[in-house]
Amino acid sequence: MINSQRKPFVAGNWKMNGSNELVESFCSNLASSPAVDVVICPPAVYLSKFSHAEFAVGAQNASEFAAGAHTGEISLSMIAEAGCKYVILGHSERREGHNESNEVVARKVKATIAAGLTPILCIGEPLEVRESGGVFDFVKAQLDAIANECGVNYIKNSVVAYEPIWAIGTGKTASPEQAQEVHAFIRKELAALDASAAANVRILYGGSVNAANASELFAKTDIDGGLIGGASLKIEDFTTICQAAS
Ligand code: 13P
Repeated sequence: MINSQRKPFVAGNWKMNGSNELVESFCSNLASSPAVDVVICPPAVYLSKFSHAEFAVGAQNASEFAAGAHTGEISLSMIAEAGCKYVILGHSERREGHNESNEVVARKVKATIAAGLTPILCIGEPLEVRESGGVFDFVKAQLDAIANECGVNYIKNSVVAYEPIWAIGTGKTASPEQAQEVHAFIRKELAALDASAAANVRILYGGSVNAANASELFAKTDIDGGLIGGASLKIEDFTTICQAAS
């Protein structure tokens, strides 16, 4: 059961998908609910088109630098000006496809909090790490890198998303028990740094969440919502997932 002190949180990560038409359809038809924090994270060119939406908007990445000669990058102040409250950081597609190390992700988390925005910090292991029994060590190293750079205060100012890489876009979701086991470990690790912040931080599950499996995942004690990829592009499915969280 979702803990009453943590408001459920569902974010849609559109990745490199979407169109003006999809933006318009979400703005007109996706309702907000007082019972759940709903966020859509579209490609950056669409961010400012959500100004009349009832729900919150987040970016999928940000530069760690404030301004200057960084062709193709987008700064946190630009993201804030576009009306965002959240920034997804450390997604495995950026770690693996764009060489973002734990240290780069940690600097981005620090810069995001300094800019007054909330990181949605993604962590999670590849298949070979799961198969060799190294999940906890892998996830701990990802968390430790953030604490080393940012200090423990990041816990109060972030949302964490556990996304096992083998479950992303594969249709192979982690079982509710597998996900809960890692979520409980993450919360315990964070509690060792700041017990009250750890009790309040939202920990989302991501990886092949859909309208049919969301309720079962969200029913677990330490799963406070989801970070949704493919199913966030279909408004009916995403609405069902948001309802499952509330
Ligand atoms: P899918 O829901 O498509 O598996 O993607 C999950 C994800 O990567 C969200 O950030």
